[in-house]
Amino acid sequence: MAEHLTHEHDVLVIGAGGAGLRAAAEASAAGVKVAVISKSLLGKAHTVMAEGGIAAALANVDDRDSWRVHFADTMRGGQYLNSWRMAELHAKEAPACVRELEAWGAVFDRTADGRILQRNFGGHRYPRLAHVGDRTGLEMIRTLQDHDVHLGIDVFMEYTVVSLLKDGDRIAGAFGYERERGRFHLFRAKSVVLATGGIGRAYKITSNSWEYTGDGHALAYHAGASLMDMEFVQFHPTGMIWPPSVRGILVTEGVRGEGGVLRNKDGRRFMFDDVPPAYANQTSNTEEEGWRYTQGDKNARRPPELLTRDHVARCIRREVREGRGSPHGGVFLDIAWIKDRMPNAAEHIKKKLPSMYHQFKQLADIDITAEPMEVGPTTHYMMGGVRVDPDSQMSDVPGLFAAGECGAGLHGANRLGGNSLSDLLVFGKRAGQHAACYAKENSLGVINSGQVAAAEKQALAPFERDGAEGPYAVQHALQDMMQDLVGIVRQEKEMLLALKRIQEFKARAERVGVTGNREYNPGWHTAIDLNNLLIVSEMVTRAALERKESRGAHFRDDFPVKDDKFGSFNIVVRKGPGGEMHIRREPIPEMPLELKQIIEEMK
Ligand code: FUM
Repeated sequence: MAEHLTHEHDVLVIGAGGAGLRAAAEASAAGVKVAVISKSLLGKAHTVMAEGGIAAALANVDDRDSWRVHFADTMRGGQYLNSWRMAELHAKEAPACVRELEAWGAVFDRTADGRILQRNFGGHRYPRLAHVGDRTGLEMIRTLQDHDVHLGIDVFMEYTVVSLLKDGDRIAGAFGYERERGRFHLFRAKSVVLATGGIGRAYKITSNSWEYTGDGHALAYHAGASLMDMEFVQFHPTGMIWPPSVRGILVTEGVRGEGGVLRNKDGRRFMFDDVPPAYANQTSNTEEEGWRYTQGDKNARRPPELLTRDHVARCIRREVREGRGSPHGGVFLDIAWIKDRMPNAAEHIKKKLPSMYHQFKQLADIDITAEPMEVGPTTHYMMGGVRVDPDSQMSDVPGLFAAGECGAGLHGANRLGGNSLSDLLVFGKRAGQHAACYAKENSLGVINSGQVAAAEKQALAPFERDGAEGPYAVQHALQDMMQDLVGIVRQEKEMLLALKRIQEFKARAERVGVTGNREYNPGWHTAIDLNNLLIVSEMVTRAALERKESRGAHFRDDFPVKDDKFGSFNIVVRKGPGGEMHIRREPIPEMPLELKQIIEEMK
């Protein structure tokens, strides 16, 4: 066995995005010793890609808002597959979490009377997104980092965890390596919080950066935890599509919240053509009314561009497929048109959407105050993840918790924009609190040296091979395949083919070899990440095959309608005793009457 350094903590948090940093703060405040492991440098989390705001029913802009409306919107957006308990906790606790973030130093945009400003977003009935221009996630990360830095938390930056360690059924720690120097580290911990984010890198076109290879999902799976809702991958409707080097970079929904409209090549606002019945009475059918809504007219109904992301993404795909797309295979997103409606429109756009202005100017030489953007769907977010207890966030492995994107439950079949940032705060905090509690009630588990040796052997295996396969070639082939066969629109034939391909990729991954040594070796990192991508791709595909209907982000050409009998269960994935992947249907617990009544009232 190669040498490794050993560390001991009460709570180990894996991941340093919003959920990880919030969990670490809470655990530390509870008086336990905490470590945070970050795959890249602090501040580089996907949290910063939630640009448009944090959803919380503060009711600062529209006093009709309340936790009840937010709860009902979240459930409807998730097509009622959500954990109703998580949706309830989230809606109730998000406002206090936002105020806490403000007290920790977050500089929000303000209403005229000095309260936190809130903007419109898809699927939210009232303006609900507390924001900082279009840099809200960045401000959240900055604030949480500033807060955490004073708490005496040990931070391990540029480390990757390759395996969770167990003592019998319970968690005992994690094993990983320093990405720069390649040295191995053993982290003993009484409890572990997974906050590793999503799986976007399983797809070719994504807003996710290189870190998001489903590490937490795969670690939990191999540790024996259950995962659920893995069929629900969110394709954000608006990513950049041109030039090719920037394809997938997010264009915030905030553009549409501020009045931006979608048009096809003929200049038609195609979103008026297809409004789902569930939203029909809340959606405007004239340009005039939609515009008034974005400008705060409480009697106006939302423009169709602010329907839920799953629907908008599919409408864009339809326009492109039917030959009405933009020159580079997307559609046009136009905020410049508001110059016909307001004086100083250019200054207004630059103030409200400063990052978008600079992003398009610098990356595509487009001035968004004067001309439309070209956009198309981009893989953005994973609704599925580790199945957790809604109150404590503990998985079915004792001592193993999950929060944020790598946890499941809150969003059901489709997440509403802005609910990710509030999710990170509400459930990061809960995970930290309960992980600390667990650590206080339990001692350190015993480390099984066999598990450590096996993890190390597997991590080093690519050095032992002759390199018949390169890690990047297999990763890119997998990403192309997932994009083509398990993307926005799915069908059985293609997904069966995808499963076959995944098995072939697994065989190729077994032959992946790398050269050089363990220091500064990105090929080696990619070879390790590849195993996680393969596992999460298989989970997505198997779960998607099992759900023979269309619901939320999961759309099947061969079962294009929502089927009530699929509305009563989640699909749960777990590793079987022989290493095989098990899929089962798990009934959703009965919702309490008072929550059912809220949903009925809001309809
Ligand atoms: O469009 C956006 O600003 C993304 C927000 C989110 O994913 O919550």
